[in-house]
This record gives sequence, C-alpha cells and structure tokens, in this order.
Amino acid sequence: MDKLLYTGKAKKMYQTDDPQVLKVVYTNQATALNGKKHDQIKDKGELNNEISTLIFQYLMKKGIPTHFIKKLNDTEELVKKCDMFPLEVVTRNVCAGHFASRYGLKEGAPIAQPVEEMFYKSDELGDPMINTSDILALSIASQDEIDKIWDLTRKVNELLKPLFADAGMRLVDFKLEFGKLADGSIVLADEFSPDNCRLWDIKTNAHMDKDVYRRGLGSLTDTYEKVLARVKEALAEED
Ligand code: ADP
Ligand code: TMP
Repeated sequence: MDKLLYTGKAKKMYQTDDPQVLKVVYTNQATALNGKKHDQIKDKGELNNEISTLIFQYLMKKGIPTHFIKKLNDTEELVKKCDMFPLEVVTRNVCAGHFASRYGLKEGAPIAQPVEEMFYKSDELGDPMINTSDILALSIASQDEIDKIWDLTRKVNELLKPLFADAGMRLVDFKLEFGKLADGSIVLADEFSPDNCRLWDIKTNAHMDKDVYRRGLGSLTDTYEKVLARVKEALAEED
C-alpha cells in the first residue's frame, strides 16, 4: 500500500515501495487567493495530469532533465522523489497578474525583456518574493544551483513559447519548481499545466488558464479541454 506523504492544494503525493519513487495523484481541487477560494472542478485532475505529462515528455525529448517517470492512469503518475527547493520560479513574457498590479500597468503592456522572479514557497507567509542574496543567506540553494535553475528555466521558456504558439496560445507567464535527486542533480519537478501558467488565445487574448477560475470567467473544464486538444494537435504536427 502506498503511504500518503503530503496533501497539497491540487495534488496528493504517495511514497511507493521504491524509496526513490513517488506516486502523484492529481485532484479536482482548484484554489485561489492562497487557498481562501476553493472548489471541486470536474475532470481537472485528469486534464492537468494529461497536459503535464505531454509537456514533460516534450521537454525531456528536448533534453530537459525532469522528475517524470510515467503516467499510470487518468489521474496518477510516477515521479522521481526529489528534495525540493522551496522556491516558485516565475518567468513572465507579457505583463499580467501580480506584475501588472505591482507596477500599476495594464495586462498585455509591452515589457522589454522576460521578467524572472523567485518566490519562497510558504503558505503561512503567503509565498513572499525572494532574491538571490536571501536564498544564499538562508542556505536554500547555492549560487551554482540557482544558476542551473535559471539556465533550465530559460531553456524551458524557449521550448514552450513556440510550442504554445503552434497551439494558438501565447505563453504569458509560468511557474516552475525544481528539486534535487539523490545524486545531487537538479531536475524540473512538480507539474506544467494551465494551473501554473497563463495562456492567452493568440487571436482573441481570451484567458485559457486558471485565471478563468480566479476571475470567474467561465468553465475551467471546457477551457482546459481546449488547451489539451490544442497542445495535442501542436505536438502531432511536431512529430
Ligand atoms: P502545493 O504544495 O502548492 O499545495 P500541490 O498540491 O501541487 O502543491 O502539491 C504537490 C507538492 O509536491 C508540492 O509541494 C511540490 O513542491 C511537491 N513535489 C512536486 N514534485 C515532487 C517530487 N518529484 N518530489 C518531491 N516533492 C515533489
Ligand atoms: P502572478 O502574476 O500571480 O505572480 O503569477 C505568475 C505565474 O505564476 C502565473 O503563471 C501563475 C503562476 N502561479 C502559480 O503557479 N502559483 C502561485 O501560487 C502563484 C501566485 C502564481
């Protein structure tokens, strides 16, 4: 029997018989406002599991090291167990969300270059922004590890921008998480789904991500189904 290790806001993590392998169960829970708003959304778990599997497989094919082992069924996957960096690594290609509100800008306003931000992952503290000096002072990661994380993040951005563009969506921004394997190597972990990125329809700028839920703009299930169908189509053209 797999032992429940952690119940998160969107997934449950189980220890398998192999000490180096975890089972991830994607749930239907959606949260916003640091968990203050929460709802069950039909099929969200299986849609995110499928979308994240496709994205991780694509990134691995292009040389990005990840925790992903395999998809088990509709809502479950196996991953390599990591010692996670308690960091949310955000890249922004377009002004939106908290970047827009922080600087009093309109969403969609042009920015001269991608923005790179890190946040300290702590629900109690509300995920405060953190800089390199803080990370080094708190021994959260070494300078080498921070450099490696940003190097991988930039590569992910350069791989996913054109993939989503082929799928008719603008990759506005996204959040990644990284962890360390037993041998000390750094891998992309967690998930990549419309729960942790912003995608805007290339033609209409319509929201195709969790902002649909955060802002009450319509059906999240219908939106994620569209994202999945478009990503599948773009990947089929790739092959
Ligand atoms: P949250 O913790 O933000 O509520 P989730 O519900 O997505 O998020 O829970 C998944 C948890 O598992 C996160 O805390 C994430 O950092 C962690 N995690 C993701 N991948 C791995 C991994 N390969 N090894 C260990 N922990 C992981
Ligand atoms: P933000 O504009 O709210 O800071 O979000 C930037 C990106 O990070 C966006 O794609 C959503 C994602 N994100 C998460 O995945 N988890 C979070 O807790 C937050 C705040 C943002």
